[in-house]
Amino acid sequence: MRRLRATAGLRGLVRETDLGPAHMVLPMFVLETAPGGPEPIASMPGIERLGISEAVAEARTAAALGVAGVMLFGVPAEKDEHGSSAWDPEGAVQLAAGAIKEAVPDLLVATDVCLCEYTTHGHCGVVREDGSVDNDATLELLARTAVSHARAGADIVAPSDMMDGRVGAIREELDSEGFADTPILAYSAKFASAFYGPFREAAGSTPAFGDRRSYQMDPANGREAVREAILDVEEGADMIMVKPALAYGDLISAVKQATGLPVAAYNVSGEYAMVKAAASAGHLDERATVLEILMSLRRAGADTIITYHAKDAARWLAEQT
Ligand code: PBG
Repeated sequence: MRRLRATAGLRGLVRETDLGPAHMVLPMFVLETAPGGPEPIASMPGIERLGISEAVAEARTAAALGVAGVMLFGVPAEKDEHGSSAWDPEGAVQLAAGAIKEAVPDLLVATDVCLCEYTTHGHCGVVREDGSVDNDATLELLARTAVSHARAGADIVAPSDMMDGRVGAIREELDSEGFADTPILAYSAKFASAFYGPFREAAGSTPAFGDRRSYQMDPANGREAVREAILDVEEGADMIMVKPALAYGDLISAVKQATGLPVAAYNVSGEYAMVKAAASAGHLDERATVLEILMSLRRAGADTIITYHAKDAARWLAEQT
C-alpha cells in the first residue's frame, strides 16, 4: 500500500476526494439594526454579528475567495410570541438577502427558515399554553417566512425548525406565490445537539424554558434520520442536510445512499468553537485540523459543507495550489 504514498505527486494522482470553496457555504448572523457596528461572538472568534452593509462586504470577500454561498441568520430588533419579524419584508434576512444579491449576484444566498431567533420564548414553533410546540399551527408561519425570503431574493430556503410536514407546506406556498424555481434545502436530519451552544449565544435563540428534544432528533437514532430524509424528499426537498456534521458522518453517508439527493453537512458552531479554542491554546494546528475536518465531510458524502471556516479554508486551499 505504501508505494502510492511515496511522493506528493503519487498521493495527488490517487486522491479520491477533492475539497474546494465551490462546495462551501459561509453562515452569517445579520442584525436588523446595527448601531454599534459588528458585534463579536465570544465563543466564535473570527465570527461577528453584522449590520447589512457589513454583511454585504463579508459576502464580497467570500465571493472573491470562491466560496459558493452564504447562509443568512437574522437577529431581529424585536421578538414576539409568534416570531412575526421572521416574515417581515424589512427584516434582517430579507434586507441582507436583497442587498447581497444586488452587490454580488453570483454568490448564492441561502436563508435559514425558523422562528427561534424571532420568538420571545426561543422555540422553533408556536407554543401552546401548556408549553408544548404546536406542529401544524407553525407550518403556515414557516411557509410565510420562506416566501418572504424568496421574494427578497434568496436563491435557496433552508427550513431548520424540524416540524413535521414543513417541507411540503413551504413547497406549496412557494409554488403558489410564483417561486416554483426556488429550491428547498431541508435540515432533515437535525439532532438535538449540545454543539449548537455557541450559535444560540450568537443568534440569541436559547429556549426560555425546556429544550428542543420534542422536535429535534435523538442523537441515538440513525435509521430515523434516514426516514426523516426520505419523508422530506417525498414532500419536495431538493437537497438534504445532516446537522451537526462531525459526529454524524455515518448519517451523511446513509442519507446520501438512501435518497440520491445532494447532501449538505452543517459543520456547526460548537464544532468551530472547539477547533478555535484548542488552536488558540496551542493544542492543535488550526489549518491542518480544519482542512482535515472539511475533507472528511466530503469523504463521508457531503456535496456541500456549511462552515464558519469557509473563508479561512478557501485561503488555505488557494495557498496550497
Ligand atoms: C435554528 C438553528 C440552529 C442552528 C441552525 N439553525 C440552532 C438550534 O436549532 O438551536 C445551529 C447552527 C450552529 O450551531 O452553527 N433553529
